[in-house]
Amino acid sequence: MVPKKITTHILQNMKVNGERISMITAYDFSFARLFDQAGIDVILVGDSASNVMAGHETTLPITLDQMIYHASSVIRGVARSLVIVDLPFGSYQSNSKEALISAIRIMKETGAHGVKLEGGEEVLESVKRILAAGVPVMGHLGLTPQSIYKFGTYTVRAKEEMEASKLKTDARLLEQAGCFAIVLEKIPAALAKEVAETVSIPVIGIGAGKYCDGQVLVMHDLLGINTEFKPRFLRQYLNLHDPITKAVQQYIKDVKSNDFPSEQEQY
Ligand code: KIV
Repeated sequence: MVPKKITTHILQNMKVNGERISMITAYDFSFARLFDQAGIDVILVGDSASNVMAGHETTLPITLDQMIYHASSVIRGVARSLVIVDLPFGSYQSNSKEALISAIRIMKETGAHGVKLEGGEEVLESVKRILAAGVPVMGHLGLTPQSIYKFGTYTVRAKEEMEASKLKTDARLLEQAGCFAIVLEKIPAALAKEVAETVSIPVIGIGAGKYCDGQVLVMHDLLGINTEFKPRFLRQYLNLHDPITKAVQQYIKDVKSNDFPSEQEQY
């Protein structure tokens, strides 16, 4: 049976019906296929690929070409989930024309279903231009890792009234512009609740508490591949680090001792 594909309209109905939205990052074909078959609603090809796939300290170095490579691999593994791709740093901040060209490249070259970009009022013109071209846009407010050198730290954002007020205004601007959803990263739960109750579009949280319309986690964190990263908001569902380490250590031992391959494992 062909599975019913998740669309932005389905996500909107989920919000209206109070059904929570599940979202996870993926960067390659094999994991995307696993997550899609497990029934995840949204797969985000996040620019966190810069950290977890490429080993950079920040999300800033990843390029549009690299995001396109990851996203087209993910798309080949997906039959049902909605796939959203991050516009990387430097691919949309200069002007709205550049933003549109980057979004179009992602849509044409990957087959993804929409893009995400960070910021509110500062990127509104770009958001509107991308939307006018028929490309669904997901916003991202709160801790926006592409601005890490402006913030200076990865601590909780919008604790002060001024920043909270700007975030609320930005959320409304993104909604009015036509974004289909907004990610809120690392902000107080009470503020995320207020935003989720104010805007009509789905609000997906990461470190933004339980009142959001959905949740997103980075796959390496959720699966316990990357065990050094342990923020309070993270629920680690597996510890893949240890069994993978043990399996590879056993393999090394078997190769060294000439136990692998056996008679049955050769031609
Ligand atoms: O790049 C990413 O993984 C993200 C999520 C943390 C929301 O933007």
